[in-house]
Amino acid sequence: MPNGPDRTDAVNDSTHLAPIELRSDNAAGAAPEVLAAVAAANVGSALAYGDDAWTAALHDVVREVFEHPQARVFPVISGTAANSLGLAAMCPPWGAVLCHETAHIIQSECGATSMFGGGATMRGLAGDDFLVSEESLQGAFDATRWGDNHHSQPSVLSLTVPTDFGTVYTPAHVSSLAALAHERGLRVHVDGARIANAISALGCSPAELTWKAGVDAFSLGAMKNGSLSTDAIVCFDPAVAEQLHYRLKRAGHVASKMRFQSVQLSTYLHDGLWLRLAAVANTTMTRLASGLMDLGLVLVSRPAVNMVFVHVDDAVIERMERSGLLFYRMGPGLVRFVTSFQTTEAEVDDALGRIKQAIAD
Ligand SMILES: Cc1ncc(COP(=O)(O)O)c(C=O)c1O
Repeated sequence: MPNGPDRTDAVNDSTHLAPIELRSDNAAGAAPEVLAAVAAANVGSALAYGDDAWTAALHDVVREVFEHPQARVFPVISGTAANSLGLAAMCPPWGAVLCHETAHIIQSECGATSMFGGGATMRGLAGDDFLVSEESLQGAFDATRWGDNHHSQPSVLSLTVPTDFGTVYTPAHVSSLAALAHERGLRVHVDGARIANAISALGCSPAELTWKAGVDAFSLGAMKNGSLSTDAIVCFDPAVAEQLHYRLKRAGHVASKMRFQSVQLSTYLHDGLWLRLAAVANTTMTRLASGLMDLGLVLVSRPAVNMVFVHVDDAVIERMERSGLLFYRMGPGLVRFVTSFQTTEAEVDDALGRIKQAIAD
């Protein structure tokens, strides 16, 4: 799909049944708790640009949730901003960001990292299940002419957790890749667009999947899982945080009304809300995936989080679309379904009923 799988402008208008949203978690709304918190923060005045009580509280929440007393958090407007500005602060202009060849940062962000990184390059690595492997990382290191100024120098390893294809790195895998990267002087970044789904599915602590595994900074990814209008960079490395302080301002990402971003994020992270929201998306996907298999459909792989890729005959796909199901075609005979915190079990069962009918017709 030329627009990338997370463009949500493909409208299905040919149904008399209520549409069921399975295109993208980007299509979901905001969590009611987040909306209520924004309204509650709309009292009186507060100093601009983050010098307010809500932003101070956000830092406390992040430090508590990630068990890291020096963690810093920087609200930005999108996942792309979080990734590209975070990476730019971690990579010199002559550096290279290494990532899986399918990663969102290399395939779907229009070169934002290279732009904010002053020309930093991106190198895609191979690896089964859309995961960077130790062998491919070592291979990239072996192929590098270290210290040769004719060549970009590997400077950051970026891992997408979970990947754009719904597979997950375990904390042990992140740890082993991060150890290799740190040994060669690279920093380690995570694109956490759906990190809540990964933490919820893995049952690990937020710290175990991030700094305890060697991650220096990551994108929090709140937008797909309940925030209204903000994402964030979370940073454990003070040198990166120092750069972000200036880089974000130059990029226009220091909002004067930061309190409304900060309150969204602190509400999202407080008392496990983000993980409960992600758990809904994951469990409704588990229900959908097992129903699809019961119907005899073949999944590309069992979903670890909230997305699944499924082989379906094109004629059946057309009937599924006509029944009001909203999903993406990924290519001939291949579709993607994504659940969100708003997906209900009743919707999943309704969707499975329509798919069963589309197969039978
Ligand atoms: C894995 C991944 N990373 C980053 C992003 C970028 O987020 P945004 O669309 O908010 O810029 C997306 C969006 O779909 C994504 O799927």
